[in-house]
Amino acid sequence: MAFELKFRKDITALQEEALTSNELKRTLGPWNLVALGIGAIIGAGLFSLTGIAAAEHAGPAVSLSFIVAAVSCAFAGLCYAEFASMIPVAGSAYTYAYATMGELFAWIIGWDLVLEYAVGASTVAISWSAYFIKFLEYFQIYLPAWMTASPWQQVTMANGDVVTGIVNVPAMFIVFAVSTLLIIGIQESARANGVIVFLKLAVVVIFIGLGFMYINADNFNPLIPANTGDFGHFGVSGILKAAGVVFFAFIGFDAVSTAAQEAKNPQRDMPIGILGSLAICTLLYVLFSYVMVGMVPYTSFKGAAAPVAVAIAITPYTWLKPAINLAIIAGYSSVILVMLLGQSRVFYSMSKDGLLPKIFSDTHKKFRTPWKSNILFCLLVSLFAGIAPISLVGEMTSVGTLFAFIVVCLAVLILRKKDPQRVRPFKTPWVPFVPLAGIVTCGILLISLFLDPVHGYQHMLRFGGWLVVGMIIYWGYSVRNSIIRKQHSA
Ligand code: ALA
Repeated sequence: MAFELKFRKDITALQEEALTSNELKRTLGPWNLVALGIGAIIGAGLFSLTGIAAAEHAGPAVSLSFIVAAVSCAFAGLCYAEFASMIPVAGSAYTYAYATMGELFAWIIGWDLVLEYAVGASTVAISWSAYFIKFLEYFQIYLPAWMTASPWQQVTMANGDVVTGIVNVPAMFIVFAVSTLLIIGIQESARANGVIVFLKLAVVVIFIGLGFMYINADNFNPLIPANTGDFGHFGVSGILKAAGVVFFAFIGFDAVSTAAQEAKNPQRDMPIGILGSLAICTLLYVLFSYVMVGMVPYTSFKGAAAPVAVAIAITPYTWLKPAINLAIIAGYSSVILVMLLGQSRVFYSMSKDGLLPKIFSDTHKKFRTPWKSNILFCLLVSLFAGIAPISLVGEMTSVGTLFAFIVVCLAVLILRKKDPQRVRPFKTPWVPFVPLAGIVTCGILLISLFLDPVHGYQHMLRFGGWLVVGMIIYWGYSVRNSIIRKQHSA
């Protein structure tokens, strides 16, 4: 392993390359970057998982779980901000690892990010499909059941018949639509994302504002229901378990760093995009969850397919239901957009370094986007979303993300020790405390996913299997084509 460490990228060369390369178009300002972060963050986690976290784990204290999850994300976010401003390249965590830990680790993290971005996009596309189908039903439009679910899923028809799906067509459609936008251009994508973000923020703020008036103090009594005797079922352990569940809701702020080569002033604006989006979403999440559990007893969310609708039902604002549905449809689209953006940018960097075929870094002459990569991922992700059951893909996104967060925190520690004098436009405060706290908190969340009595071993098996596939490609292809290795042998 030690010999792998010598294949490290030189940070000064990376910085020069980042600031002089103009293959990707530099059009994003600070607000675009904050909006990209919010676009990726607010999605299925807030609208679906808040209810589950309250009903099954934390009760009315679910807002505290959001704070706990936000704190561990903030540790990682501060570390991302340091790297993204210092090495503003599209590869994000992959490149940070290349510069600090060497090529093998870089490969592992780049490969792992597929779980966060491509698999994450599939997961959200499957959820998007469910809400889209429900939205069409408001207009009495009913899609044939076979085209609304994967072959592993059964759908209950309005007349009670249960049929098996063939392919989830709406899930595939949204991946196609978003990929087309990404191919056309980063500016066009950022503009569409901006509109969507405005819409979803408006609905979230309206829900908080109107819902506030319907809070019943009795619903907070007791704030922390007594633990049932099982770890994670209410009590303090319940708050922690729920923090693990809602962690998914924060995933996405890191994707801002993959747009570094498309930012006008990345050194200044990367920390604004990463930390700004995280701060805004944390505030909204805490308020949103506080209002939700204040409006109705937390037990009402048990088994609810649309938990926000349960809270809305006690108000006279029935129009809020379709509005929330619309915000969810729009909101999930931007999550898919930013996830696919991140995926293509990480593979762009890996391909530039010779670790993946050139097709991933070919840019379109006019659009200046990695269009071939976008098309490939469009096909793969849409196929996956069309035929995979959501239970297969769901938590793998959190596993992949937590792993990446731990590596980035570790990379900050390593580089501070190895290269303390390097100019850092943004410095993570309280080093080594913040990176260490990031490693410990994200490590605990990751271990809790692996130790989950129901799905833990499946997570371990899938994650291990994914890394084994990655190693086969690395030793079979990347090692032979790695540019840095060629430079070393020359
Ligand atoms: N944070 C994103 C969501 O909740 C992944 O959908």
